[in-house]
Amino acid sequence: MKLIIIGTGSRGRVYARYAKEYGAQIVAVADPNEERLQDFAAKFSVPKDGLFKSWEDVFKLEKFADAVIISTPDRVHYGPTMAAFEKGYHVLLEKPMSPVEQECRDMVNKSIEKGLILMVCHVLRYAPFYEKLKEIIDEGRIGQIVNIQHTENVAYWHFAHSFVRGIFRNEAISSPWILAKSCHDLDMITYLTGKKCKSVVSIGNLMHFRKENAPEGAPEYCLDKCSYEKSCQYFAPALYLKQITNVTWPSDVISLDTSFAGRYEALKKGPYGRCVYKCDNGVVDHQSAIFEMEDGSTATFNMIGFSSENTRTIRIYGTKGDIRAHQSKNEIEINDFLTGEKEIIKIDESITRKGHGGGDERLLRDFLDAVEGKPSEKKTSALNSLQSHLMAFAAEKSRKEGRAVEIEY
Ligand SMILES: NC(=O)c1ccc[n+]([C@@H]2O[C@H](COP(=O)([O-])OP(=O)(O)OC[C@H]3O[C@@H](n4cnc5c(N)ncnc54)[C@H](O)[C@@H]3O)[C@@H](O)[C@H]2O)c1
Repeated sequence: MKLIIIGTGSRGRVYARYAKEYGAQIVAVADPNEERLQDFAAKFSVPKDGLFKSWEDVFKLEKFADAVIISTPDRVHYGPTMAAFEKGYHVLLEKPMSPVEQECRDMVNKSIEKGLILMVCHVLRYAPFYEKLKEIIDEGRIGQIVNIQHTENVAYWHFAHSFVRGIFRNEAISSPWILAKSCHDLDMITYLTGKKCKSVVSIGNLMHFRKENAPEGAPEYCLDKCSYEKSCQYFAPALYLKQITNVTWPSDVISLDTSFAGRYEALKKGPYGRCVYKCDNGVVDHQSAIFEMEDGSTATFNMIGFSSENTRTIRIYGTKGDIRAHQSKNEIEINDFLTGEKEIIKIDESITRKGHGGGDERLLRDFLDAVEGKPSEKKTSALNSLQSHLMAFAAEKSRKEGRAVEIEY
């Protein structure tokens, strides 16, 4: 199994590690960031003639591998995916597929036309927690679903890292938040209900991370002697310099040199050292949406960037019972209306401790199995994934235009 990885950032590395464990060989990588490219090549033993500055150079060559993993920024998904199909590669594509609706549709159509696999990294479909929820629903234990209440609780520090200072902070470089992050949640709504969404209404805005909310006299960078060090929970050195060894996410992405000195240097004038009230951010910090599904059931969804915990919480109301589930507690509670019985299921934490509750590794393995022609579930086929993307585009349209939006398939 020979693989090409386009984009050697944090997601590319996650998949590279699991691909190596699977026994695959990474024969080529592309990234315009020379430092990252070289570092990645050394870590994952990529041959010297397999290093490329951009995806265009890779696809100028005749096909030389079995599949391509595309883990570039959101706006660099469509080009390499379409080029990979032209050369006959199967593709594993990071979510969101693209910030442009037509491009999402085009990629799905092209994969069907060429008879090539296009799987999207909706890793939660492979997480045991969600697999269990799906199993309970499909067994009919709570009857027909009437309503789902799904909340994405993003921890305050995670929100500031990714959506204020980081690479998902504005639509020009990434996507609207409901697409960038919550296409996972919308995917869960269609996955768990097994239904398509008909229409949506949504509201939300950027309420807090705005220039007018900056404390008086706060400098542009926290390290420029900010006097709010003790009173601001977003003070960058407190968030990124606490770990001395075993530096983990998100502190390990602010600089390639993850030593204390390397990270300190990165905070001086780098994006993650900025005052959260003085960034070039624009994505909403809270948004709600109500989806009407094809069978008349509804799903209410909240995403909030001000949470103490980083987790998803779900309540599912059925005609025969209901479910409360808490992702990071690995806990699913099922209540049966007829018997009055309550069952609490705990998901094995040794699996869920891995990336995305165990979903990253299991998705990658399923993709590689599919490429090898082994039995595979292909649970995140692009056709499945397209649905959540259409829900996100419609929700964003509703939020901006202040009206209900119907979804066209
Ligand atoms: N599945 C998930 O749960 C999940 C989680 C986080 C991020 N993502 C998605 O994964 C993608 C990558 O995110 P990340 O966190 O790894 O970002 P990152 O910034 O760490 O990595 C992206 C890499 O792509 C490289 N790149 C940019 N332009 C390129 C080009 N033309 N050719 C080749 N490489 C190029 C960048 O230099 C960078 O190294 C994004 O689309 C993001 O939304 C998915």
